[in-house]
Amino acid sequence: MSRPVDALIDFLRSEETRGITHVHLDEESRQVLRDLNARSKRPAGAAPAPAAPAARVASERTGISLAAVPAPKPSAATSELRIEGYTPAEQIDSLRRQAETWAPALSLGTLRNTMVFSVGNPEAEIMLVGEAPGYQEERQKEPFVGPAGQKLTDILKAMGLAREQVYISNIVKFRPSMPGQTTNNRPPNDEEMASCLPFIRAEVSVVKPSCIIALGGTAAKGLLNRDDAVAKLRGSWHEFAGVPVRVTYHPSYLLRGTSGNDDKRKVWEDMLAVMELLAMRISEKQRGYFTK
Ligand code: URA
Repeated sequence: MSRPVDALIDFLRSEETRGITHVHLDEESRQVLRDLNARSKRPAGAAPAPAAPAARVASERTGISLAAVPAPKPSAATSELRIEGYTPAEQIDSLRRQAETWAPALSLGTLRNTMVFSVGNPEAEIMLVGEAPGYQEERQKEPFVGPAGQKLTDILKAMGLAREQVYISNIVKFRPSMPGQTTNNRPPNDEEMASCLPFIRAEVSVVKPSCIIALGGTAAKGLLNRDDAVAKLRGSWHEFAGVPVRVTYHPSYLLRGTSGNDDKRKVWEDMLAVMELLAMRISEKQRGYFTK
């Protein structure tokens, strides 16, 4: 009699003949396979055996590596969040989907409903974290697309990077609401940041950046749980979930343009520190930006 697992083996063989070497399975499917595998090895009447490594029955008989599909990464910090999918892009997408209806944030009643998640490379070395989407970001459903976003794009360009090469996100995934709000924005409060913090933790665990840049005091507070001004926090390395964090001024601060090149130079020095940490090539011209 043909067993259910034989149908799976047939399917995997046909995939293999098409040149497929990996297949994506969500956690529920993996559990079904573990149960099937355990049952197929158990003598009739014996107690259930502990689950075997994922889908060994199928993968032993085919060249396709199901065992290579990682189980969701357990993390107390992500609490009810599930990181699903095989590639970092799929995993970020699974977080994005869960953020759409994230009750801890939406039930506060102080955030708007349009969810704005992240943009960029989910395998980037550099992760930039801002505070929350504003008017433009909410309209375009993409972080940092308004004037501050344009300034951020310029900063990245000066580092020799395109937006697509880094991962850009916000502590809070919804625009903070205000009475009679039109285009005006406000920074998120502590409660709002706490409600979304599981996402940043999960994003860091997926992207595995070599360095995080906290853009402005609010993002620094959300990540580092410190109330200090950016002036005090910048200039040294901090840490979030084991990843080095550099704090710098928010790009919108530079748009005020009240301090000439002084603040631009400070931000630039923070970026030079990041480039040095990542052993990026730095030209003499780049070293001298905003010195006069
Ligand atoms: N400011 C932020 O902190 N994040 C955005 O996405 C836009 C502006």
